Amino acid sequence: LEVLIKGLHRLEYRGYDSAGVGIDGGNSKEWETNSKNIHLIKQTGKVKALDEEIHRQQDVDLDVEFDVHLGIAHTRWATHGVPSPVNSHPQRSDKNNEFIVIHNGIITNYKDLKKFLESKGYEFESETDTETIAKLVKYMYDNRESDAITFATLVEQYYITVQLKALTSQVGISLHPSRRGGPLLIGVRSDHKFSTDHIPILYRSSGKDKKSCNTLPRMDEDTCLFPVDEKAVEYYFASDASAVIEHTNRVIFLEDDDIAAVRDGHLSIHRIKRTAGDHPARAIQTLQMELQQIMKGNFSSFMQKEIFEQPESVVNTMRGRVNFENNTVILGGLKDHIKEIQRCRRLIMIACGTSYHAGVATRQVLEELTELPVMVELASDFLDRNTPVFRDDVCFFISQSGETADSLLALRYCKERGALTVGITNTVGSSVSRETDCGVHINAGPEIGVASTKAYTSQFVALIMFALLMCDDRISVQPRRREIIQGLKVLPDLIKEVLSLDEEIQKLAAELYQQKSVLIMGRGYHYATCLEGALKIKEITYMHSEGILAGELKHGPLALVDKLMPVIMIIMRDHTYTKCQNALQQVVARQGRPIVICDKEDYETIKNSSRTIKVPHSVDCLQGILSVIPLQLLSFHLAVLRGYDVRLFSTHFHLTS
Ligand code: UD1
Ligand code: M6R
Repeated sequence: LEVLIKGLHRLEYRGYDSAGVGIDGGNSKEWETNSKNIHLIKQTGKVKALDEEIHRQQDVDLDVEFDVHLGIAHTRWATHGVPSPVNSHPQRSDKNNEFIVIHNGIITNYKDLKKFLESKGYEFESETDTETIAKLVKYMYDNRESDAITFATLVEQYYITVQLKALTSQVGISLHPSRRGGPLLIGVRSDHKFSTDHIPILYRSSGKDKKSCNTLPRMDEDTCLFPVDEKAVEYYFASDASAVIEHTNRVIFLEDDDIAAVRDGHLSIHRIKRTAGDHPARAIQTLQMELQQIMKGNFSSFMQKEIFEQPESVVNTMRGRVNFENNTVILGGLKDHIKEIQRCRRLIMIACGTSYHAGVATRQVLEELTELPVMVELASDFLDRNTPVFRDDVCFFISQSGETADSLLALRYCKERGALTVGITNTVGSSVSRETDCGVHINAGPEIGVASTKAYTSQFVALIMFALLMCDDRISVQPRRREIIQGLKVLPDLIKEVLSLDEEIQKLAAELYQQKSVLIMGRGYHYATCLEGALKIKEITYMHSEGILAGELKHGPLALVDKLMPVIMIIMRDHTYTKCQNALQQVVARQGRPIVICDKEDYETIKNSSRTIKVPHSVDCLQGILSVIPLQLLSFHLAVLRGYDVRLFSTHFHLTS
């Protein structure tokens, strides 16, 4: 238990909302005959709370010593069902804990599987997709053709049966981990020499011969890993090396669709199908990394890591929701309310900080596609003003954490006045998620860096999807819808392209970091980028920065511009292009030497500017996702160069306001 709990502590940095362990009661032989021997202990909240719960257990004797023992542990970030002990992993097949499983990822076809299993009389206790794995394995076991079937064969059959439409890695007792999409590695430890340092892959035969489908592939001394002389051995299966590195630095990385099995201290790896180009073996590798390094990969802070995660996080926001083939959008969380939303008189988006900027960024496209008046409000100001709200208003609450106090107060205020409330949040089970009438989880994954980055771009994408949904039956806007949906399709690649500017932006930061202030100017779709860029710079570099609407320049702010003041301007080829060029002229006329973030094919701006950051072209209403990323990177590099420890911005979770 100590090893498991410690391993979970090492994974805490990834963010989670609940945790659980499953342990066998002792000797493996005993376990095989008495599955009731498996204990599950699960708890909402921190690993510490789980540890306390373990010590409260009456029926677990913590002083017993075993020769053979196994256990599994998991921290969960809720995606299916709220954080609660019953939704935590391990999930189980039945009340006897015959099969238990932990799992990272999403099973997209779990609803069909669940329906099938319920029709066969299996009763579900959690809201998770994971529970279908344990139940389906139990179903296959209950309907086995022969009593000789092994757990290993069951897991393979499970894979063949469901063809998991998912990015997952999972570990089941006893002990059979498999990987598809999600990372999974095996740490090996023994004081004795291992039989091999390359474990050959075992393949199930073609399957034409029915009998061969039910038997394990050949497992003998040549195809397994084990300590010679049959001495003591420990195997650690983990989704992340940080959980095992203090026990061993000898690891085997599994590849997609690998299944690993341990039996009597022997480790084997198999695959169901042989495909061209498969590597014939998995090697034991020696990890040279320090714990800190593993946790953050090649990144020096969570903020940086999360900036670079954006090509994947926006995909996760769209996953299962946008169909790029037939240009449709489905938001499961809004389907029961969309008609009511379409009938409303006004949309109000209410939020704080970066989340507010996501509202500013998407307001125009919402106005265009919904043809409704759209207000964007800072929650604190909205409350201060006692803003009138009516029953036929729809109020959106945008919040990464779902726990920001002003946003929550505003939510309760709007509910009291009878408005329909919609949440846009990253945190399943948060107050915003629970207290709103409906909503959309942005599914960006835990955001640990306090400076919000990937949550912003995912909120942006979620609001765009909402706008697309609102007009899906209006014939006149179909060409525009298609243009935006196709723009979303290529967005991850374009984000990658912007991220490749990192080095160039680091150089720019080196030129700017000793300045007192930086002004960021733009208009239209990019006003939000100016506000967000300036907020990031203030928040983590302690430099003054201001986002200025370029249309307001001549009404005062131009007075700040001279040859010394650093100015960043955003100029994109949309309906504000000419006006932005005018603003550029005004700045240049005051001897300003702006750094221009522009479209890489806007040769005119490139020619007329002394310094440009060139980003790829996207649809006008999505371009803001690409214009903000250089400023995220800039703020990060400025903070590092100014000597602020960006790591400090990742040590606390911004769960409360
Ligand atoms: C849901 C599942 C998702 C699964 C998908 C398959 C959850 C949390 N999500 O996603 O894992 O892959 O079905 O069809 O189980 N809600 C609010 N307020 C908010 C956010 C959400 O009330 O701020 C509500 C929604 O109205 C909905 C539920 O929470 O009833 C889940 O929302 P969401 O995760 O966005 O729904 P799906 O995308 O359908
Ligand atoms: O969790 P929320 O989105 O409700 O948080 C709102 C703001 O506190 C937050 O966006 C803040 O502005 C960012 N951490 C800034 O980077």
